[in-house]
Amino acid sequence: MPELGGRRIPSIAIIGELNLDLIVTGAPRLPEPGEEIIVGGMELTLGSASAIMACQFADLGDDVLFISKVGGDDFGRRALDFLRAKGVPTDAIAVNDSLATGLTISVALDSERAQLTVMGCIQEMRLDDVAFSLLRGRRHLHVSSFYLQRNLRPDVARIFARAKEMGLTTSLDTGWPHEGESTRDPEPVYPHLDVFLPNKAEAVLLSGTSTVEDALIALAERVPTVVVKLGPEGAIAQRGGEVARRGAFAIDVVDTTGAGDSFNAGFLHAYLSGADLTDCLDLGNACGALSTRAAGGTASQPTLEEAMEFLTTAPRRDAT
Ligand SMILES: Nc1ncnc2c1ncn2[C@@H]1O[C@H](COP(=O)(O)OP(=O)(O)OP(=O)(O)O)[C@@H](O)[C@H]1O
Ligand SMILES: [Mg+2]
Repeated sequence: MPELGGRRIPSIAIIGELNLDLIVTGAPRLPEPGEEIIVGGMELTLGSASAIMACQFADLGDDVLFISKVGGDDFGRRALDFLRAKGVPTDAIAVNDSLATGLTISVALDSERAQLTVMGCIQEMRLDDVAFSLLRGRRHLHVSSFYLQRNLRPDVARIFARAKEMGLTTSLDTGWPHEGESTRDPEPVYPHLDVFLPNKAEAVLLSGTSTVEDALIALAERVPTVVVKLGPEGAIAQRGGEVARRGAFAIDVVDTTGAGDSFNAGFLHAYLSGADLTDCLDLGNACGALSTRAAGGTASQPTLEEAMEFLTTAPRRDAT
């Protein structure tokens, strides 16, 4: 994949939420009410799909604009510090003193996670918070956590339509719908999308099909490039009539939090470089796999050099 080496993608904009994760590791199980369990560790890390993606773009050397909002509290300050330490500019992030910053307590249990989330300002992004002048001259716009963004969600189609008029390409990752949310909610967005990046369960649910292959076919009728993340099995994608499937890389997994978001940044970095679909999947799989080496979403995200070295040398996981 020589065309990706060292290339910096200019002006990727992400609109999304910014919050923290408290990752609990070494828990044998969840406590019963009234019980205390001693665990191996707790680590306060940067959470939120949108912020984790912004950090992976920065690690790949890309120029990223993150449009977001935090509360004027300690958690908000920590979130901004985490971003700055990763090289993500914070000037388009509003600090709102009357809001609390969201937090997820995430307990790692074998391959699953049990999570408690306080929304805080996670759902407080609104159309009015999007200064379209900031998008002028930029290359690409991404929105993650479509379902968590309850107040932005009704306007995402409009935001993407406007961005496309301004010459940007667009991409979306929905996350999983919560109770009372419709699988039809993303439909107005599809006509304004260039790349759609669901995981397997989301793709099947949103397309109303029963297999990932059928989901890919159905979604590819709506969006020019569809990428479905398959966890330890890698990822599959369709661009027009072309379908590509690539296995995941073998890695000692510590925590898969945010693997899908690091994957998104890797895939889109390659996509915006004009790479082949298989190379886009490989860079996505490499970023996703490498991000699982440490607790939290951002601690072990690779640089472009590290990801390129890894994807040419690392073995694939055995097909499951
Ligand atoms: N156990 C694993 N081994 C190797 N790679 C993995 C593993 N788990 C995930 N990945 C990589 O990360 C990518 C994204 O993972 P996954 O399919 O879990 O996305 P997701 O469900 O959207 O995740 P998220 O929880 O971040 O939203 C996969 O496509 C794969 O490349
Ligand atoms: Mg995901």
